[in-house]
Amino acid sequence: MPNKTTLSVIKADIGGYVGHSAMHPDIIENAKESLAGSKLLIDFYVTSCGDDLELIMTHNLGVDNEKVHKLAWETFEKGTEVAKKLKLYGAGQDLLADAFSGNVKGMGPGVAEMEIIERTSEPILIFMADKTSPGAWNLPLYRIFADPFNTAGLIIDPKLHDGFKFEVLNVYENKSITLSCPEEMYDLLVFLGASNYYMINRIFRKTDNEIAAAASTQKLALIAGEYVGKDDPVLIVRSQSGFPAVGEVLEAFAFPHIVAGWMRGSHQGPLMPTSIKQATPTRFDGPPRVICAGFQLCDGKLVGPRDMFDDVSFDETRRQANQIGDFLRRHGPFEPHRLPLSEMEYTTLPKVMEKLKGRFVEGKKG
Ligand code: F6R
Ligand code: MG
Ligand code: MG
Repeated sequence: MPNKTTLSVIKADIGGYVGHSAMHPDIIENAKESLAGSKLLIDFYVTSCGDDLELIMTHNLGVDNEKVHKLAWETFEKGTEVAKKLKLYGAGQDLLADAFSGNVKGMGPGVAEMEIIERTSEPILIFMADKTSPGAWNLPLYRIFADPFNTAGLIIDPKLHDGFKFEVLNVYENKSITLSCPEEMYDLLVFLGASNYYMINRIFRKTDNEIAAAASTQKLALIAGEYVGKDDPVLIVRSQSGFPAVGEVLEAFAFPHIVAGWMRGSHQGPLMPTSIKQATPTRFDGPPRVICAGFQLCDGKLVGPRDMFDDVSFDETRRQANQIGDFLRRHGPFEPHRLPLSEMEYTTLPKVMEKLKGRFVEGKKG
């Protein structure tokens, strides 16, 4: 049996620099030291997207491994100490539990994991976003794995031609359904279009059930029962030789589609693909960012990263995102820029209603 490699991407906001805009370099250094000091991992890479610390790890221990999750949790705890010392903003924000208990899922951090048998060559793309939620992946994932106008391989490559299966999670009811494309495409889109409720969890190649993508679907708001920060998501995508090509995967991000998040987690804005260096959202705490670190896996070693959106071919997408951002900003507190009341992360509505309740009168009929 060939060795299996597990990829674990675990992230948390444990303190912002300055405000919620970026990550302090001392926290990144601290996380590198913490992971380097462990014998569990084959390899790791630490980076940040906005104010989120991103731990990209490889090992042989499988998904949901308690030891690996504990290592990530302890790394976040150590980073929180650094954040507290520097009085960084929102130190320990995503660590919702007092002590680790078996699995970081449900405790605040976001997690995307997959266990694979490495192919002869295994190009992997890790996407990380800030100021948005896992629903932001629905549209690009649909385009990558189901839309031949994006992915030519769905038509041209016999290995892709049968299509992919999408595991979709209703994050409010914690129920999932698997739908197969192309034959159930229209049913699938009923759910994917409601991206604040239904989020793609994993994608499998239909011919052999090989995993193609895995996303984080934690919703901090639901975990904590109240607003505690945006559940900025991560995503792992395999590519080439029977999966969509690197260029087909990235092409799906050339359209800066509108996602929920941005300022106070309560606004709609364009998802802007940037270099890792430019993933520091400052205008109205945004617009929401997505970065992509590309690696070649080599016996579990992470050869890379390449900063995949650090390419002039995404300049027009960024320009368009800025224009869409300008246009939406001019709506100020009006929908559709501001989220509907039901989805607002911070909401003053109950207090305003309480204050004004005696002043509501029956509406005039006719
Ligand atoms: C959005 C986000 C920021 C904050 C905003 C207010 O996900 O993190 O936009 O919501 O900066 O932050 P507080 O309430 O901490 O002052
Ligand atoms: Mg923050
Ligand atoms: Mg964040």
